[in-house]
Amino acid sequence: MCGIVGYIGSKDAYPLLINGLKRLEYRGYDSAGIALHSESHELNVYKSKGKVSALEDSVADKDISGHIGIAHTRWATHGEPSNLNAHPHYSQTEHLALVHNGIIENYRELKDGLLQKGYTLRSDTDTEVLVQLIDYIQTTYKLRTFEATQVALKQVIGAYAIAILSKDEPDRIIAARKSSPMVIGVGDNEFYIASDASPIVEYTDKVIYPDDNEVIELVVGQDIRIENLNKEEIKHELQKITLDIGMIEKGGYPHFMIKEIFDQPRVLRDCMRGRVNKEVKEILLSAVIDHKDKLLNAKRFILTACGTSWHAALIGKQMLESIAKIPVEVEYASEFRYRDPVITDQDVVFAISQSGETADTLAAIELAKSRGAYIYGICNAIGSSISRASDTGTYIHVGPEIGVASTKAFTGQVAVLAMLTLCLAKEKGTITDERYKYLVDQLASVPDMIEKILKTSGGIEKIAPTFTYARNFIYLGRGFNYPVALEGALKLKEISYIHAEGYPAAEMKHGPIALVDEEMPVVFIAPHNSLYEKVLSNIQEVKARKGRILSIVSDGDKDVTAFSDYIIEVPHVDPIFEPLLTVVPLQLISYYIAVAKGREVDQPRNLAKSVTVE
Ligand code: F6R
Repeated sequence: MCGIVGYIGSKDAYPLLINGLKRLEYRGYDSAGIALHSESHELNVYKSKGKVSALEDSVADKDISGHIGIAHTRWATHGEPSNLNAHPHYSQTEHLALVHNGIIENYRELKDGLLQKGYTLRSDTDTEVLVQLIDYIQTTYKLRTFEATQVALKQVIGAYAIAILSKDEPDRIIAARKSSPMVIGVGDNEFYIASDASPIVEYTDKVIYPDDNEVIELVVGQDIRIENLNKEEIKHELQKITLDIGMIEKGGYPHFMIKEIFDQPRVLRDCMRGRVNKEVKEILLSAVIDHKDKLLNAKRFILTACGTSWHAALIGKQMLESIAKIPVEVEYASEFRYRDPVITDQDVVFAISQSGETADTLAAIELAKSRGAYIYGICNAIGSSISRASDTGTYIHVGPEIGVASTKAFTGQVAVLAMLTLCLAKEKGTITDERYKYLVDQLASVPDMIEKILKTSGGIEKIAPTFTYARNFIYLGRGFNYPVALEGALKLKEISYIHAEGYPAAEMKHGPIALVDEEMPVVFIAPHNSLYEKVLSNIQEVKARKGRILSIVSDGDKDVTAFSDYIIEVPHVDPIFEPLLTVVPLQLISYYIAVAKGREVDQPRNLAKSVTVE
């Protein structure tokens, strides 16, 4: 996590860097800092605990001049959020300032070495060892910053995207990356550095994505210099980004999260555009067409992910098994990577990730790849590390997701898994033509159905304050709606800080029912499907214990409604697509409860959008 940004050119660097940090604040907001080569030839470093706005307040009377600078927004890993631990970090000689996103695994060893050489480390961070190590190498071997960085990084184990300013070389920025994201924007006689393209898009659409173990030197008026750690020159093609600035702004909504919830009909149409043909009722996914043999001959699919993306994987498993008849395992990436799983070249491993940067998911596919599996990425962020590490894949194309709690990426992931399922079922002949066409038609209608649900948001907003008293929630669902129960509980926890648990509804009587009393809100996901009667019995069990029941039901429902204190209706759809609808009221209820409790919805405490540390 953490976000880095850098600028070198003829514009004033400060406003541009602050604007960039605000765009990257979703990556962490424990502290922020900036380093500038000032017009009076000083290397000024300012930092502040808290959000970027706190940094802005703290520099009100400071010299913020300069056309070259680097900046950072932090999600604390090593060392508490504080001014001292904020980046940029200064070297002992105060000649270098460095910002870092990532984690240095061998920092203790490096720190001990530096202490023995007489260095004093001022912060509790892993990052500081990097700047001190580069400083040590530079002063000992009389190297320029670029070369000293190359030498230093050979000793470093871990993940990093770094940017460095040197007092002695005030005309350049040095950067480097390994396993943490970095994009370099190329403008007219100017360069940008950022953790993702959002701080760059309004200035240039030309970018390069450096690879692992590359060191970059940016000097105005010169070509970008890139070398790997072995001093071999590297050339990257310029790429064009298609992100538009409107996509990363709130567009009149009070929070990104609610904007992204309301974006779902439009972005799901984007996700299906060119893939789902409503007229002839057909789905074409280029990855399936191009890699048919691999996918159809696989003995097993393994879906690996974290958090919300893992919930999407659970839904994908049910779709793929029930319709395409493919055996599927779902794995937490963080467990999978460390438990020596059996993986063969007959497996296809799917990595599902909004950011495409989640460290555990990336490591899980690296492991699977090393054992011969074929890797299929389902990502949102174009050009992200996971998408680049995959053999093939499908982008979900839902646009940047800025709110820390994932909403539209979840429905985008489920939509891609649905398209994949239908494509493979058709190829394998596990579905009749009639059912295939019916399901294609149903899937294509999902965005309209979500639009209908969103029209009821006013009612959901009214219910929300009645639940702000609660300290716990239970979410229950069965079949395709069990992962939705998990997702509903996660959303509530993340942004309202109310404890919530999701369970398969029938599991309730094996333990959780002991928690139910007249104060316990129990959310049932109970649309009209083959498990309806079963869920109805579970609802009665909760009612008998006086739980407060909120149910998500199909339009026109009578029986569940009769036992519920509150209901939210969703349109009828084939059960395999129910999660795409039933999750929407749960996103809304979490949002409105969090707002009613005065929480920081887009930037909940302790979280970051992109978890690039394990
Ligand atoms: C929850 C949430 C997280 C992410 C998880 C994986 O709202 O956003 O649980 O789903 O950190 O992130 P990605 O999908 O970027 O790999």
